[in-house]
Amino acid sequence: MSLVNTTAKKVVLHSYPEGNLKASDFAVEDCPVPELTDGTFLVRNIFVSVDPMLRIFIDKMPLGSKSMPSLPIGTTIPGAAVGEVIESRHPDFKAGDIVEGRFGWQHIALSNGQGVNRVPAGYGGIENALGIGGLPGFTAYIGLNTAGGVKPGQTVLVSGAAGAVGSAVGALVKARGGRVVGIAGGEDKRRYLIDKVGYDAVADRLSPDFHAQLAEALPDGVHVYFDNVGGPMLAEIMPYMAFGGLVLISGLMAQYQGNKGAGATDNLPAVLHAVMGKGVRIQGFSQYGQDALRPGFEEEICSLISSGALKPEVHVVEGLEALPQAQVDLFENSTTGKVVVRVVPLPGQSA
Ligand SMILES: NC(=O)c1ccc[n+]([C@@H]2O[C@H](COP(=O)([O-])OP(=O)(O)OC[C@H]3O[C@@H](n4cnc5c(N)ncnc54)[C@H](OP(=O)(O)O)[C@@H]3O)[C@@H](O)[C@H]2O)c1
Repeated sequence: MSLVNTTAKKVVLHSYPEGNLKASDFAVEDCPVPELTDGTFLVRNIFVSVDPMLRIFIDKMPLGSKSMPSLPIGTTIPGAAVGEVIESRHPDFKAGDIVEGRFGWQHIALSNGQGVNRVPAGYGGIENALGIGGLPGFTAYIGLNTAGGVKPGQTVLVSGAAGAVGSAVGALVKARGGRVVGIAGGEDKRRYLIDKVGYDAVADRLSPDFHAQLAEALPDGVHVYFDNVGGPMLAEIMPYMAFGGLVLISGLMAQYQGNKGAGATDNLPAVLHAVMGKGVRIQGFSQYGQDALRPGFEEEICSLISSGALKPEVHVVEGLEALPQAQVDLFENSTTGKVVVRVVPLPGQSA
C-alpha cells in the first residue's frame, strides 16, 4: 500500500534548551510521507529511543564546542528507532525487514541504508534492538572490551547503574561471571538492579549513608569504574579505587545540562591524587566507529538470551507525542532501565 499523500507526524527541535531540558523545547508537527527514490526505502517506526546523548546534539553549542555544529531549529530529532521496511527501492532491503537505525523521532523515515542494522531474530522482542541489543548494550560491550574484559576476582563499579547503559553493563558482567556493584538514585532503583538485573550490591547515592554502603560493597576496592555520570562523583569514587584500577569514562550525565554538575569545588586535585598515589588510569571510549565489532556483540547477546543468562527488559512509554517528556525524564531521576516509546501506527497500518 502506498503511503504517499498520508500525513504522518514528527518531533522537531523547537528551541535550543536553556539549562535543563523542557518538553517545550520540542514540537510535534504533521509531515507528508517522503517519496521513495532509487537506493532508498521507507521504514515505519515501531519503537523510538530516548537517549541522553541527544541532549548534546540539540544544544546551541554542543559540549561548548564550536567544532560540532548545532542542529538547525525545525530539524527532526535524530533518535534511534526500530521499525519495519514498508516500501523499498534499495537492493539490500525489502518490505517486511525489521531494522534498527537513526530513523528519527517520526512515524515514517526515508533511509539509504547507511548505519542501518538488521534486527537479529535471537533478540526476542524487537524493542531489545534499542536496549541490550542496541546502543546501550553495544556501549556496555565496547566499554568492557576497553577494560580488557571481565576478570575473575575483580569488581566493576557502575554509576548511573539503573540507566540503559548501566543496566546493560550489570547484565553483561553477571552473564560473564563477574562481580558488579552499582550506584543508583533511590531504593526502587536499588531493588530493581538487585532483583531484576542481578547486581551483587547497589549503593544509593541519595541516601545519607551512601559512603558506608559503598565501603561495605567494595572490600577489595574498584578494579574498573564504569562511569556514566562524570561530575563531582568521580572525585568521591577515587578513594575506593584499587591500585592500578581503571576509570572508564562512558558518559557525563551530570554535565550535559550545563555546568550544574561541576559543583562548587575543584575536584581535580582529588582525582590526580588517586592517579598518582594508586596508579589509577582514566580512559574514555566511544562505541561510535566500532562497527567491525558489531557481529561479535550480536552473537554474544543472542547466545546469552537463548541460554537464559540475559533476560532483557525495556520500559515502554506510549505514543509519539510522549517523546519530549520521556527525553526530559531521563535527567529527572525518574526513569529505570532502557526507555523506548511505542509509536502508534498510521491509519491503515497494522500494529
Ligand atoms: N561512550 C559511548 O559510546 C556512549 C554511548 C551511549 C551512551 N553513553 C553515555 O552513557 C551514559 C548513560 O546513558 P543511558 O542511556 O544509560 O542514560 P539513562 O538511561 O538516562 O541513565 C542515566 C543514569 O544517570 C543517572 N543520572 C542522571 N542525571 C544524573 C546526575 N545529574 N548526577 C548523577 N547521576 C545522574 C541516573 O541514575 P541515578 O539517578 O539512578 O543515579 C540515570 O539512571 C550517558 O552519559 C551517555 O551519554 C556513552
